[in-house]
Amino acid sequence: MVILGIESSCDETAVAIVRDGRELVSNVVASSMDQHVIYGGVVPEIAARSHIEVIIPTVDEALRQADMTWDDIDGIAVTYGAGLGGSLLIGVVTARTLALTFGKPLYPVNHVEAHVYANFLTVSDVPAVSARSEQPAFPMLAIIVSGGHSQLALFQDHGTYELLGQTQDDAIGEAFDKVAKILGLPYPGGPSIAKAAQEGDAYAYSLPKAKMSGEYDFSFSGLKTAVLRLAQQLIGEDFTFPSFKLAERLTEKQKVDIAASFQRIAIETIVGKALLAYERYAPASVVIAGGVAASQELRRQLLESLPSPIEFPDFKLCTDNGAMVATRACFPLKTADPFSLDINPNLSM
Ligand code: KG4
Ligand code: ZN
Repeated sequence: MVILGIESSCDETAVAIVRDGRELVSNVVASSMDQHVIYGGVVPEIAARSHIEVIIPTVDEALRQADMTWDDIDGIAVTYGAGLGGSLLIGVVTARTLALTFGKPLYPVNHVEAHVYANFLTVSDVPAVSARSEQPAFPMLAIIVSGGHSQLALFQDHGTYELLGQTQDDAIGEAFDKVAKILGLPYPGGPSIAKAAQEGDAYAYSLPKAKMSGEYDFSFSGLKTAVLRLAQQLIGEDFTFPSFKLAERLTEKQKVDIAASFQRIAIETIVGKALLAYERYAPASVVIAGGVAASQELRRQLLESLPSPIEFPDFKLCTDNGAMVATRACFPLKTADPFSLDINPNLSM
């Protein structure tokens, strides 16, 4: 089964072709990130306009790189939620039109679930992307960490899972992005905090870990506020000092130390809960998914803490891509009516 997957939930317009839920045949990602950097975050209107401009060329390029025509494609998968309404709409309308035009089944894919499926690719024909050596086994513990989600889920099978816990406020990626803003580091915050943290002392400052009522739940909003208060205190100002003026008053040393300390604590929060779930449920495999799965600190702490060996997805498959969407649709999934599939910006797992 050969599936063409379309992802457009945020600022990446991404299309990929996957065979049998294992083999990545082509993978094209066009990002409008460079247009959002000056605003310090994704601007929905700019993202949607960019999707309109590049989505058809991106589909064509995925087919070209795969050396395939529509005759070779068995189905079209598309992210229909969660995400930005305007962005999702471009992908869904494109997929519906292509499904009708070429007479292909249409598979509606949940974005967060899709992130998990980046872990099922075991063959890559795409030179810049490597794949895992084997598919994860069930029951599978999924650590889902992205800009919009922080969840621990236990998958018994494809499409059958239990949400063990989740963030009660900000997602972990969102916390990276907000702390980066306080420190005057560029968007997206994950990579720029990771870079700054390399120069810093991860034990320079102690920051709080929230106590949650749900055993596997987390919170990142308090940690972000603690960073804000720490920065205000370091420059000798009180809590009324505006966050956007902090970066210019902090020294380089203070910034890298805050970045390293924040990164350590944020990742420890996730890894601590994942370890609890691992001990309780004894899963046959553990996977990480979402943009923050690209974090080297997360990989380091997981390797150090989890008793079982863990394979990580290629960095290019951690952030948004069409491959994960296509892969999800290679496993049992209900098709949608191409005349009526609608977006669901608030879709949950
Ligand atoms: O999954 P994703 O591409 O988009 C969403 O579905 O949200 O995740 C984007 C998030 C951003 O918040 C970004 O700061 C974070 O992933 N991120 C990282 C790293 N690379 C990207 N966070 C920590 N460390 C990284 N190396
Ligand atoms: Zn994502």
